[in-house]
Amino acid sequence: MVVLVSGTGSLLQNILDHQDDSYRVVKVVADKECQGIERAAAAGIPTEVVALAEDREEWNHRLVTAVGSPDAVVSAGFMRILGAAFLERFEGRTINTHPALLPAFPGAHAVRDALAYGVKVTGSTVHFVDAGVDTGRIIAQRPVMVERGDDEASLHERIKVVERKLIVEVLRAARVDGDALSIDL
Ligand code: GRF
Repeated sequence: MVVLVSGTGSLLQNILDHQDDSYRVVKVVADKECQGIERAAAAGIPTEVVALAEDREEWNHRLVTAVGSPDAVVSAGFMRILGAAFLERFEGRTINTHPALLPAFPGAHAVRDALAYGVKVTGSTVHFVDAGVDTGRIIAQRPVMVERGDDEASLHERIKVVERKLIVEVLRAARVDGDALSIDL
């Protein structure tokens, strides 16, 4: 599979550290230079940065080319919306990990939004990527309790501990089924 990242890449690191016969990472692609790319390079995985361009359609085409022909694509902290050209090629085999219990708190500020709303429980969702923002079919979810005194950073870190385990669990359960992924959890 190919992993897409934008930031520190701690989820990617856990994915890399738990590779076994059930999955292998063949490439890591980012929209900018980031720690995730450095982690992949340190692990000897091919990397490519497809810098975000003003013409999003053109950028999506370049992303498709960079990703190549894997069985699956995992968006692990990739902070960009994947467009039509990408989904035409990879819908059904692209999954994303999101730091909230969808359908609550979609979007780029899920942890902040959950705290601001005042929920007592949030969590992690792994889902298929479709054309909406975090609207694709849910594969797996795990709860995380909000603690008194939590701020965005402390809550996000506890969610990420759960996300790191959950994404590996999902990847180990994934099977290639034609052009799609079947994940029975
Ligand atoms: C995760 O919480 C992911 O769900 C969100 O960004 C974070 C990525 O963390 N979209 P990292 O870059 O893997 O440390």
